[in-house]
Amino acid sequence: MNLGFRGEVVDFYHQYRRGYPPQVINALAARFELTADDVVVDLGCGTGQLAVPLARRVRAVVAVDPEPDMLARGRRAAAEQAIPNLSWMLGADTDIPALPALLGNRSVGAVTIGQALHWMNHHELFPALVPLVRPGGGVAIVTNGAPLWLQDSGWSHALRDYLENWLGTPLTRTCGADETTQQQYRDSMAAAGFQVHMESIDYTDTLDLPQIVGGIFSALHADHLPAPDDRPHFAEQVRRALEPHAPFTEHIHVPILTGRLV
Ligand SMILES: C[S@@+](CC[C@H](N)C(=O)[O-])C[C@H]1O[C@@H](n2cnc3c(N)ncnc32)[C@H](O)[C@@H]1O
Repeated sequence: MNLGFRGEVVDFYHQYRRGYPPQVINALAARFELTADDVVVDLGCGTGQLAVPLARRVRAVVAVDPEPDMLARGRRAAAEQAIPNLSWMLGADTDIPALPALLGNRSVGAVTIGQALHWMNHHELFPALVPLVRPGGGVAIVTNGAPLWLQDSGWSHALRDYLENWLGTPLTRTCGADETTQQQYRDSMAAAGFQVHMESIDYTDTLDLPQIVGGIFSALHADHLPAPDDRPHFAEQVRRALEPHAPFTEHIHVPILTGRLV
């Protein structure tokens, strides 16, 4: 696959993308009654934003992603934190139907998908999870807020104007965060036989300009990342566009859509 999550973009992703606060991990553990005996599959794991904190709560996490550089960065982070029960596997949603044979039927407490379902075919994925997940376990779709340039604030509007001008294209993709897409996920989960539940975690944080620029770089396709020599100019242009709107407060809304098998 060439999704663009490679090279330096991966380092920006790891450093600047938000992870998930403990309330999110607690909500997942509570919903599926996860114990120290459970195995969790984190699909579209990136560099371990969900997989790493989940590994501290269960017996083992299998972190799956089609991008080798994401896996390599995640593996390094887990080693730095001496987390021994996390396996990093190259794969995609289309590999899920083969997993019950590998793991033994109904052996997984949960399959988590953080900010990644929009890359997958959810109509085929949800039915494929049913033979994998134990009773009481399920699937969780976690959406990590809205993109920096699609938020309802002056600085975010200014960022969107700047980026649309820079890229020469409108920026409308919500990466699954919009209500229409969330409803489609709910319908498709219910159709596969899951008991659907929706909850959310909300919190506020304030970003600085390096975090905003790093966040932008983390969202670019590797082919579009400005060359290192051009980055100071890019950062300066972002500063000029956003500074009148400081402070850069973000209200982070994290919907957690879960489907449970009873
Ligand atoms: C925006 S990142 C999310 C990473 C992390 N889960 C998080 O919450 O920050 C999306 C990830 O989904 C992965 N991905 C893309 N297509 C996929 C697919 N078909 N199956 C599994 N993962 C996929 C990408 O390689 C990328 O690492």
